[in-house]
Amino acid sequence: MSYSDWRQRSARHIWHPYTDMSAFETADFPVIERAEGSTLYDIEGRALLDGISSWWCVNLGHSHPRLVRAIQEQVGQLQHTLLGGMSHPRAIELAERLAHIVPEGLGHAMFAADGTMAVEAALKIALQYWVHRGEPQRTRFIALEDGYHGDSLAAVGIGYIDRFHRPFRAALQPALTATAPRCARCPHACQPETCDAPCFAGMQTLVHAHHAECAAVIVEPLCQGAAGMRIYSPAYLRRLSALCREYGLLLIADEIAVGFGRTGAMFACGLAGIRPDILCLGKGLTGGMLPMSATMVTDAVFEEFQSKNGESRTLYHGTTFCGNPITSAVALAALDVYEEENILGRAQKSAVTLRNGMASVAALLDDSPLSSLGMIASIEIKASAGGAARAVRMVQQAYQRGLFIRPLGDTIYLWPPLNIRESDLQQMVDILTEAAQS
Ligand SMILES: Cc1ncc(COP(=O)(O)O)c(C=O)c1O
Repeated sequence: MSYSDWRQRSARHIWHPYTDMSAFETADFPVIERAEGSTLYDIEGRALLDGISSWWCVNLGHSHPRLVRAIQEQVGQLQHTLLGGMSHPRAIELAERLAHIVPEGLGHAMFAADGTMAVEAALKIALQYWVHRGEPQRTRFIALEDGYHGDSLAAVGIGYIDRFHRPFRAALQPALTATAPRCARCPHACQPETCDAPCFAGMQTLVHAHHAECAAVIVEPLCQGAAGMRIYSPAYLRRLSALCREYGLLLIADEIAVGFGRTGAMFACGLAGIRPDILCLGKGLTGGMLPMSATMVTDAVFEEFQSKNGESRTLYHGTTFCGNPITSAVALAALDVYEEENILGRAQKSAVTLRNGMASVAALLDDSPLSSLGMIASIEIKASAGGAARAVRMVQQAYQRGLFIRPLGDTIYLWPPLNIRESDLQQMVDILTEAAQS
């Protein structure tokens, strides 16, 4: 079977996500057969570096032997059972382990199979929480402009990105949105060391005006991923956390992308020193190997769902594969690996290489603004350097040279596995340097 046959069959029968299908049958895209570490291998054995960790999730590299073994061991024992009205050891162990590593007090996990459903659960929990508290009018959410929280209609309502979601607009329940912080283009010329987030004023005004009708504020802590890897200051999050407490609003931290070490700490909320009321986790939870997510809540939130005076307070929510034994087993193994292989320590070193390398690439692009935090680095290509069209060209050039990345509008970025080999990381940077020079 030739490469073009595989591509044609793929384009004919798979509706590829976030992909313009009109020209896809004749497009040059990789068909991957196996992967190891930071490298994907296509059906002809060609190596391709995975510069975006297969959509921001393969934190521990592909085919990590500990994770593969965990799947093999679990698969022979128990493949699936439900969590409605029964339980199983792997999910119990995982919920306990998570409770110990997330910011203190978030001790209860509702599992799901993907990030979108973790957000969906968070929104429903927030709404029902206020019903039980006797304030059912709190039905709206506050979010940041250009935030992204998943692809269900509820998630798209609170994470509306016009270029993606315009056709769904009429069916959405839109969030109230505050101007997002954006350190790479700080209008106040703040310095990271002394910033006290003057850009927070918009959020403050919004919360002040609308808190009584709102259930929660939801944000992607420290980095708005899909918006273009827009990194912002922990000071903003601290002020948000304090404001939510002041007005009695729930704070939902969507760490589906940044959780599990991406920002330099295990959780971005931990880095900022805050504890949200609801925390959404996914992607890196299983080291990106199998689909699993979790919505963690505090005792105070959980308590509101205890039936009282004969009134049932059940949360009627849960998906078939939530807390599946195999995904739970691989998540437990991933937590072992994060700890035992000192993934955060290794990532800290690699983050320096990543930042320095991307700074050199940014310099070649007419000094386009660089944003970086932990193992995230992005360059918003200036219009003078070609903007979005240049980003697309660079992505194609990188692919021809053996690096797979995807642009986000006018932004190119690297989001490598946290345990990437230094030589692989250097090669990613070298390829982007060549792409910027050509
Ligand atoms: C911040 C954030 N929330 C939610 C999601 C949705 O997760 P999933 O694609 O697993 O449904 C994503 C996916 O990229 C994300 O980045």
